[in-house]
Amino acid sequence: MSPSDSIIVPLDVSSQAEAIALVDRLPQVGFWKVGLELFVSSGPDILVQLKRREKRIFLDLKFHDIPNTIAGACRAAARYGVDFLTIHATAGKAGLEAAVEAAQQGAQAAGCPPPRLLAVTVLTSIHSRALALELRVPLALSDYALQMALLVKESGFAGVVCSPQEAKKLRRFGGNAQDLLIVCPGVRPSWAAADDQQRVMTPAQAIADGANYLVIGRPITQAPDPVAAYEKICHEISASVL
Ligand code: C5P
Repeated sequence: MSPSDSIIVPLDVSSQAEAIALVDRLPQVGFWKVGLELFVSSGPDILVQLKRREKRIFLDLKFHDIPNTIAGACRAAARYGVDFLTIHATAGKAGLEAAVEAAQQGAQAAGCPPPRLLAVTVLTSIHSRALALELRVPLALSDYALQMALLVKESGFAGVVCSPQEAKKLRRFGGNAQDLLIVCPGVRPSWAAADDQQRVMTPAQAIADGANYLVIGRPITQAPDPVAAYEKICHEISASVL
């Protein structure tokens, strides 16, 4: 896989016009993430527009509901031919298995390959104190995240979205979780600002620690020259794996 295949750029804008302007400004980027803000603002037409431009799509809507509702949402999303789709691991095994089956049905009905389902193990905005005192989970955060990763693997999911720090733990654990795809936000080249990301890692380090895909937004989209920033990141990744 070339470095450019492993970088996903988020379309963190609130209108379809802004999203398309960004996609057209960065023709080198082949993989885009559509999150809740853009999807709620513009509807599924943005997915059609991205497919028309032959882009890969990470539809990051983080479904969390009863199995029947999750299944309906996954079936519908799969019909757009998206490549990655997110669901919360805390939907439980029945919900996760329903997602896998429905995504396959939706894709088959549309004649496209099924999306790879990714689970959010624990939101990175949840810290240890909140997990213990608010959510009342009696496990250390890293143990809980690992248990969730094992559950999603058992349910037929392709991978997880997590911080690069968790990637390392998951790869070290090995076993059943060994072949899970790991998609990491919270990545910053050494020359970029951390912005509001708390625990960042460089792209090369995140890949070395086991990430398969990196979600990198502002260091590219807010750079004075976004194309140059994207190419610099690709170059840094290739240089590190040689
Ligand atoms: O601009 P930046 O590189 O920080 O963008 C990161 C993207 O990844 C944003 O779309 C953000 O919502 C998303 N994300 C994140 N942390 C998570 C999950 C998703 O930053 N734990």
